[in-house]
Parts: sequence; structure tokens; C-alpha cells
Amino acid sequence: MRIFLTTMFTVALALVSTGCAGTASKETPVEVFGDMAHQPKYKPQAVGKHFSYDMSTAGPVAGTVAMGGYQPNDIFNTGVENGNYVGVMPMTPTRESLKVGQAKFNTYCSPCHSRVGDGRGIVGQKSGWIASSLIDKRATEMADGYLYHVIANGVRSMPAYRNQIPVADRWAIVGYLRVLQRAANGTMEDVPADMKGRLE
Ligand code: HEC
Repeated sequence: MRIFLTTMFTVALALVSTGCAGTASKETPVEVFGDMAHQPKYKPQAVGKHFSYDMSTAGPVAGTVAMGGYQPNDIFNTGVENGNYVGVMPMTPTRESLKVGQAKFNTYCSPCHSRVGDGRGIVGQKSGWIASSLIDKRATEMADGYLYHVIANGVRSMPAYRNQIPVADRWAIVGYLRVLQRAANGTMEDVPADMKGRLE
């Protein structure tokens, strides 16, 4: 009995002194019984044999749309109606939406097109990559839906901004573009009668 106890004590001491999981050690821990950290499992997006395709994770069911990500193919989301760009935007500009449009335009468009939209932004000044004027006759005659399309999808060398600018904000920018165009192409007719004297 005494020999047995001594042996057990020695074995226990040996186990304790080799260190257990949880104590800081650079040595590989001794696993008397299998550690639960090591068990058969699939890691996300790894190769696996669970499904009919060789992936560990189930793919989304066909036609699944992320919550809040449903965007029907309507005028509001595309700027297109019966295959044509809509002439007038599907959102009536308000003082608030124009303010949003101004903030977004100054953030996303002015580096290239300048704050007044004449195309002489800082990028063009530094690089010689000239953005077009958004206040000349050509841009003034573009349909609202086309301006929306350019913001969402880009055009020729201009990149798309659909990932940075949500749908409603794109229309807000279109509204603000019309403000810039109107401001750049004012005539004497636009000056209030009592102010005309100061200009003439
Ligand atoms: C990184 C620079 C850059 C930014 C930012 C930028 N654009 Fe442009 N944009 C350009 C360039 C360059 C062109 C001329 C593209 C060409 O003709 O190759 C252009 C052209 C355009 C045109 C004319 C399209 C046509 O048919 O000629 C519109 C409208 C326009 N941009 C609107 C915007 C609006 C609105 C924003 C902000 C959401 C914006 N751009 C942001 C560089 C930029």
C-alpha cells in the first residue's frame, strides 16, 4: 500500500510539474486525455464534403437577398424607364435633400469636378487628368436619369460611386447639380428688381 501511494504521488507530481493547459509555457502542452480544442471540424469557407459542392459552408439559397439589400429594378434604383433615362428625377428636391446633395457633392465629386462643377478640381490641377464640366451646356442638357447613371456606374475614365453613395443620395446630388448649373448660367432676369441697380 505504501509503495502504491508513493508511486501515485510521484506520478501526480511529475504531471503537475510538466505544466497544464492554461499556464504560460512555450512547450507543447501534455495532453493526457484528448483536448477539446482539437476535434474534427470544418473552418468557414474551407474545402469540405458536407454539401453537393466541395465547401464546408452552405451557400445562400438561390434568390436570397441580404436584409435591407433588396433593390427592385425600378426608376428610383436605375434612373431608367422603358429603356430610356428619365428626364426628371423620381424624387422632388427639398431644402434638406439639396443640403445632403451639396455635402455629398463636395465630398465625392468636387475633388475632380471642383466645388462649382467646372471640372477644375484639385485632381486635375495636380495630375492633368481633367474631369468634364458639369455646368456647361452639354451637362445642363443631360437627363436626370443619365446623371444618376454616371454617379452609380461611372463613365469612360470616371469611376463608379455606387458603393460609396446610396441611391437616395445619388438623386440628392443630381438635384444639387441642377442648382450649380442654374447658378453658373444666371442672367440679369434672375436678379431681383431692387438689386439690379447695384449691378448695372
Ligand atoms: C476621380 C475623379 C472623379 C470624381 C471623383 C468624379 N468624377 Fe465625374 N468625371 C471624371 C472624369 C475624368 C470625367 C470625364 C470622363 C471621360 O470623358 O473620360 C467625368 C465625367 C463626368 C460626367 C459627364 C459624363 C459624360 O457623359 O460626359 C458627369 C455627369 C460626372 N462626371 C458627374 C460626376 C458626379 C456627380 C460625381 C460625384 C458623385 C463625379 N462625377 C465624381 C472624374 C471624376
